[in-house]
Amino acid sequence: MTKVLLTGGAGFIGSHTGLALLQTGHQVVVVDDFSNGNAEAVRRVAELAGLGPWGQAAADHWAEAGPGGSRLHLIQGDVRSPQDLDRAFAVSGGGIGAVLHFAGLKAVGESMTQPLRYWDVNVTGTVRLLEAMVRHGCQTLVFSSSATLYGTTDTVPIPETAPLQPINPYGYTKAAVERMLTDVAASAPGWRIALLRYFNPVGAHPSGRIGEDPNGLPNNLFPFLCQVAGGRRQRLDVFGGDWPTGDGTGVRDYLHVMDLAEGHGRALDVLLAEPPQLLTLNLGSGQGHSVLELVRAFETTNGLTLPYAVVGRRPGDSAVSVADPRQAERRMGWRTRRSLADICRDGWAWQSANPQGYRSNEWHPTGELIGAQQVS
Ligand code: UD1
Repeated sequence: MTKVLLTGGAGFIGSHTGLALLQTGHQVVVVDDFSNGNAEAVRRVAELAGLGPWGQAAADHWAEAGPGGSRLHLIQGDVRSPQDLDRAFAVSGGGIGAVLHFAGLKAVGESMTQPLRYWDVNVTGTVRLLEAMVRHGCQTLVFSSSATLYGTTDTVPIPETAPLQPINPYGYTKAAVERMLTDVAASAPGWRIALLRYFNPVGAHPSGRIGEDPNGLPNNLFPFLCQVAGGRRQRLDVFGGDWPTGDGTGVRDYLHVMDLAEGHGRALDVLLAEPPQLLTLNLGSGQGHSVLELVRAFETTNGLTLPYAVVGRRPGDSAVSVADPRQAERRMGWRTRRSLADICRDGWAWQSANPQGYRSNEWHPTGELIGAQQVS
């Protein structure tokens, strides 16, 4: 059992990973500024993990939930703030053994119009986090990197050794953080760092209680498609029908977010069990699916029809992006277990039960939350 700090733990991937960690016996401290995450997600993670609801009435239950007291803590805070990070590291007696760093901005288009925000949150935020880790004597870190680093390569599938050639500010910030973490790992003994390069994480927890809840118009295919299925958007625009692929639409490596969450658990286990190291791994299924294949799978699995129209290509897209995930299997015995049908079923379970995401049932905590007790 390790006490793990999750920055961005109220977001899509962070919330699912928090649940997976709680279910394997870890203690979880979430720090999130709720800019693109939601406290309601963490409240539901607590429920799914059998920790009971937040609130004073549940305080006794929380106290019983783990050997050291409450097993899930939520702090509203910004990774760029040393004070907020110090609060998170000190929660419930301190002793954070590892950090999973999900907090960051991730919209490609926005990164081109607001590059300074991306450098500030993604890069400065990680600098502040590493400084806090040094202050608190924690040297184990799992970083959310991205297949976006590989740019528009023609290599299929893509191994970790492929050249890094990001093509937008979002990608440059991910590359900069990878470079910085490589320098940190080389600077002193004891660092245990994993750079996990995600391909296309989609789907939701099978309960339909937690899932992806994008702010505004979704940039990515899967959440857009879910909103079309739910009637919130009229039709899907398929970006390009003339790619050099089987059916002319773009091919991606979609992986179920619970597979990804479990991948983080495995990376943590490996880092903690093995001597200090820097581990760089692709997390993907190794299978490519076109936009139209995903549309068809969603329709078949859920008995729905999705209106779509093929439109022009989106700038910056590539034809095919598929992981070579063999290193992840070799190094940590991980590979995806869930199918495209599982992804479509679970994604729709979330969307149909939560048509407005968490907004229909939002929870706005004030002040600082420690375990079940709210402290202002
Ligand atoms: C995108 C980003 C990538 C980022 C990732 C996660 C770009 C070019 N890439 O990956 O840097 O790491 O999201 O945030 O933005 N598509 C449609 N219609 C839509 C949306 C997408 O046809 O409305 C197509 C795309 O052209 C692509 C596929 O669906 O072929 C997947 O797109 P998306 O979900 O945005 O993921 P990526 O482009 O792979």
